[in-house]
Formats: sequence, structure tokens, C-alpha cells
Amino acid sequence: MWGYYGSKSKIVKHYPAPQYGTIIEPFAGTAQYALMYWDRDVILIEKYDVICNLWKWLQKCSKADILSIRQLKCGENTDDFKWDCQEQKDLVGFIITGAPSMPKKTASRWKTVVRPNTQQFRLESIANNLEKIRHWKVICGDYEKESPSIEATWFVDPPYVIGGKYYKYGCNAIDYQHLGDWCKQLTGQVIVCEAEGQNWLPFKPLVSSRGNKYQHKEVIWTNENLFIRQDITVQEVAERRKIRLKMSMTNLMEFNKEIAS
Ligand SMILES: C[S@@+](CC[C@H](N)C(=O)[O-])C[C@H]1O[C@@H](n2cnc3c(N)ncnc32)[C@H](O)[C@@H]1O
Repeated sequence: MWGYYGSKSKIVKHYPAPQYGTIIEPFAGTAQYALMYWDRDVILIEKYDVICNLWKWLQKCSKADILSIRQLKCGENTDDFKWDCQEQKDLVGFIITGAPSMPKKTASRWKTVVRPNTQQFRLESIANNLEKIRHWKVICGDYEKESPSIEATWFVDPPYVIGGKYYKYGCNAIDYQHLGDWCKQLTGQVIVCEAEGQNWLPFKPLVSSRGNKYQHKEVIWTNENLFIRQDITVQEVAERRKIRLKMSMTNLMEFNKEIAS
């Protein structure tokens, strides 16, 4: 939806597909994994109220609400304009600079002069995704206190040990050994994200990633021995991806039909 520091938008396709009808993201942020598999039952948990309120507000917005949002020119400041609500202002604050961890006030040259269409592009993309998120459950609070005890696909993407200090609630407030133990006791399919070099779980390499502050290798821990067959061929993986894509397109078309009728 909106740009966010640490978002998985560019690499989300590399993670294993969900094996359950319910996806839980206990460190939601912009919830790119849930957005990719949006038609499941989705539960988001997020401690930063700005993000949480943004999700809840978007669930109620119409396409027209989003497409009519004011776009800023280079150097303009969100404080200098009147907004319908705090969430609208915060959304603008997230799209006027590159992937911030909090809403910014001043529109960057990059998002206005160098790439003059990015605000429009971002608003259109949000407007086109609104129907995907209406049925999601969004909970504001701490991952451990608020997570339900259910069997599900858990996509656990906490602030990273290195680089995770830029969030309002960042790495300094997280006990990673405790988080690792918590992940191990979850039931269902568990996928945990980190960057190379950390060992609070026995992570394995996933893919290289370039953020706007750091370039690093993404690693993953998953209890997927249950789910991944080691002998699967590249052709089988490609075939499964094709089927998944076809299914989500069919779902989307049916969903659109339902809404239209
Ligand atoms: C790496 S980001 C998640 C990125 C997300 N996967 C995406 O695609 O945008 C981590 C998120 O965890 C949130 N967070 C930090 N501490 C938390 C806690 N104790 N409970 C719930 N959320 C927390 C941060 O506010 C941040 O939004």
C-alpha cells in the first residue's frame, strides 16, 4: 500500500506460500505478505498506533476518498494544509519521501521532481487494493499479548537486530531470544524474517535485498520441514506458482463480480 521502512514489497514472492486459510502478521507494518495472499482470513497485529489507525481508516475508505487526496509539490509541508483526518495526513506523510518508518512532513525532491508521478501512482495503487483489505482484522498492540492461540500461517517480520532502531517501537525494545522461543511454540506454519548474521533462530539464506539504508542478505527460519519437500523440482515449483496465480486471479474476478452485483 504505502512505502514503509523494512517493507517486504520487493521480496515477498520469495517466501513460502501460506498453507493455512488464516494468515497472522504479529509485526504487521505494511503487511506485504498478507497483501499478496489477501483473500485469506488475515489478522494484523501492530504496536505503532499510526500504522494501525491507517489500516483501520483505509478499510473504511472509498476509491474516491483516496484518489482525491492532495498531492504535494517539492518542499511543501503537510502541516501547512488542512486534512480531513489525521490518518489522511499520515498517509500523505508516508508517500512524499522514500520508505520512511514514520510519516514525514516535507515532500522530497525525489518523490516530486525526479519521479513526478509517484504520489499519483501510489494513491492509485492504494485505491485499487482497498477491496482486498476490508475483511482483515487489525489489532493495535504487542505481538505477544495480542496474538490469538490458533493454528495458522504466521509471518513474523520483527524490526531487525541491525537496522531495526528506526521504528517508533524498534529493536531495542525486543528480547530476541524470547521472540525466538515464542516463534517455536506457535502452531501451524511459521515463517520468521531476519537479516544475515543473527542467530536467535537457526536462520537459512533466502535472498539478497537492497533497502534504502542497508544492503543485506535476507534469511528465514521456518518450521516448514512439515511443508517443503526437499526433492521438489524447479518445474514443480513453477507449476505451483502458475496455479497459485491463476487461483488468485479467479478469486479476484469473482470478488469483483460479487461487489458489482
Ligand atoms: C519490519 S516491520 C514489518 C514490515 C512488514 N512485514 C511489511 O511488509 O511492511 C516491523 C514492524 O513491527 C512493529 N513492531 C515493533 N515492535 C512490536 C511489538 N512488540 N508488537 C507488535 N508490533 C511491533 C513495528 O512498528 C514495525 O511496523
